[in-house]
Amino acid sequence: MSYSCASRSLRLSQALELTFTIREYGRMTLTMEDIIVDPPAEGVVVDPMDWFDSPGPFEIEIGCGKGGFLLSRARANPHLRMLGIEWANKYFRYAADRMARWKLTNVRVMRTDAKYFLIHHLPPACVSTLHLYHPDPWPKKRHHKRRLIQPDFVEAAVRILATGGKWLIQSDHKEYFGIIISLLDQRMELTKAAWEEPGAGEEPDWNGTNYEVKYTRKGRTIYRVAYVAHQPEQFHSGQDRC
Ligand SMILES: C[S@@+](CC[C@H](N)C(=O)[O-])C[C@H]1O[C@@H](n2cnc3c(N)ncnc32)[C@H](O)[C@@H]1O
Repeated sequence: MSYSCASRSLRLSQALELTFTIREYGRMTLTMEDIIVDPPAEGVVVDPMDWFDSPGPFEIEIGCGKGGFLLSRARANPHLRMLGIEWANKYFRYAADRMARWKLTNVRVMRTDAKYFLIHHLPPACVSTLHLYHPDPWPKKRHHKRRLIQPDFVEAAVRILATGGKWLIQSDHKEYFGIIISLLDQRMELTKAAWEEPGAGEEPDWNGTNYEVKYTRKGRTIYRVAYVAHQPEQFHSGQDRC
């Protein structure tokens, strides 16, 4: 009897050890498919925490490009849950591959139009920090309508920011940056805040996003602004969700 109990508990501990090993091994072999999340189906509002093993403050980077910033921020802050959104397939895949190679379980990457995703698929007040670095300036006047930061996009961004949530924006384009500031300054729900470098200091080799590095080397000025969100009561159906 005592022998059978002992062997049973031995089998149990072996099974637990095997489960643990499989889990650990799984973590060691992240693939791009583990990192990529597909855009939701029409009409679906997602709970971003469903993509992760455990909850944490949720951050989004729009236009993550090759994922340099995303990688740095996620590595230095494992408690964060981060989503990089990128439209260009080549960069999207590059970023996802990079996150998988670094075995980052706290990052997901989605290929979609960020504006559409924010408007149609995210619940209100779910984002603790929204990162938007070097949005395409579309410098020709006839192309200005292609710019991402327009009133409807600002409306969507304000809606998804949690109370106290931050929106960090950086650009090398003076004219577009001025327009961005004037649009955001009009929003009652946003107040300018001190810029806290989201990447530097966290990694010794962090020099900035790809565009930041490229344009800093060319001697261009980089413009930066941070806002903090104060949600009006009507946006809250209960507590902030993530
Ligand atoms: C000028 S690059 C900046 C990349 C990166 N943020 C950096 O600072 O190095 C702008 C990026 O935003 C992406 N992008 C532009 N519009 C987008 C949209 N509506 N949704 C998702 N990504 C978008 C582009 O494909 C491009 O990779």
